[in-house]
Amino acid sequence: MRKNTQACYYSDYLQLDKLLDAQAMESERHGNPAHDEMLFIVTHQAYELWFKQMLHELRSVMSLFEGETLDDSALATTVHRLKRFTAIQRLVNEQITVLETMSPQDFLEFRDYLVPASGFQSVQFKELEIRLGLRRDQRTEADRQFFYARLKDEDRQYLLDLEQQETLTCQLDRWLARLPLLEFDGFAFWEHYRKASQAMLDSDEAIIRNTFDGDDLKVQLEELDGTRARFAALFDEAHYKQMREEGQLSLSHRALMSALFINLYRDEPLFHLPFQLLTTLMEIDELFTAWRYRHVLMVQRMLGSKIGTGGSSGSDYLRRNTEANRLFKDLYAISTYLLPKHALPALPEAIKKKVGFSLG
Ligand code: HEM
Repeated sequence: MRKNTQACYYSDYLQLDKLLDAQAMESERHGNPAHDEMLFIVTHQAYELWFKQMLHELRSVMSLFEGETLDDSALATTVHRLKRFTAIQRLVNEQITVLETMSPQDFLEFRDYLVPASGFQSVQFKELEIRLGLRRDQRTEADRQFFYARLKDEDRQYLLDLEQQETLTCQLDRWLARLPLLEFDGFAFWEHYRKASQAMLDSDEAIIRNTFDGDDLKVQLEELDGTRARFAALFDEAHYKQMREEGQLSLSHRALMSALFINLYRDEPLFHLPFQLLTTLMEIDELFTAWRYRHVLMVQRMLGSKIGTGGSSGSDYLRRNTEANRLFKDLYAISTYLLPKHALPALPEAIKKKVGFSLG
């Protein structure tokens, strides 16, 4: 048999010579080797490798969304890849447990050598945030400042260019808005929904009036008025536009209505995949937020109230980002508008057929 000189060899294929030679400890360079710095470097490198894979999935999903239509098999691929994205998120969230085996005092052995480097210079992390749809105006003032001030010029430019491109949130909006779910021949769904939601709110009001009195009653009725206003905005595009301008909602009116419809009729086979897509996106947000919380707690444990190596206020700065840097918030807002199944009309057969399995 002829010998294959090009045969694949494990360490060559994986370029392990480069990969395993890339753990240069700053503490060693300063002549004061700190045992735990290896764990610190390997953990961060493992994160960056997983970020690379997450971006690979995200970019592929975004290229599927780019076209004028998203057929069923593309939708299935999208959901599959985004679910892989969340599986990686779960894995990396757990990596914090490994890093926390380093004691705060052991961290102090090498921490000062790292200044002014910091996790907020992770371009891949920022790219994930931007591509998913985190807007610059959403970021806290401190986040905005650090974001642009602490990066190398080429990294800053790369991210600024990315901010000009379409995000997954925009693509989701376009897809939802073009689904044929808002107008049906001979089936006045949205009129039925408006009446059913009105009846639900009237019943809520009756329960409140029977249960509370005095100041409690006043507070509860004010809350209910707020909910009534949010429902009213669904049927009044000008009001909806105003809520959007105030930043209360970001999806377009059509997109939100379609997402609501999918949620209301998620048991219909037709809506299984679209519903999975919407829930997977919410999961991505939840898992990012869970990572941010765990990271804040780890930072508190390691630093107490010390500032970060990058110069931020440390855990306070990160806690504020955790609240501000949420994604796909509108998909959570949809729960406000859900009605119980028994209050919904069954979809007429003709409509099920008309919409078919290829939605958009
Ligand atoms: C001992 C462990 C760690 C400590 C004490 C720590 C500390 C901090 C601090 C204080 C900040 C705020 C910026 C600053 O002033 O430096 C920060 C930001 C950040 N860190 Fe960590 N970190 C640790 C581990 C990690 C790991 C393992 C990752 C994984 C990639 C990571 C990723 C990030 C990211 C992405 C940010 C920016 C977050 C944002 O701006 O919202 N950190 N870290």
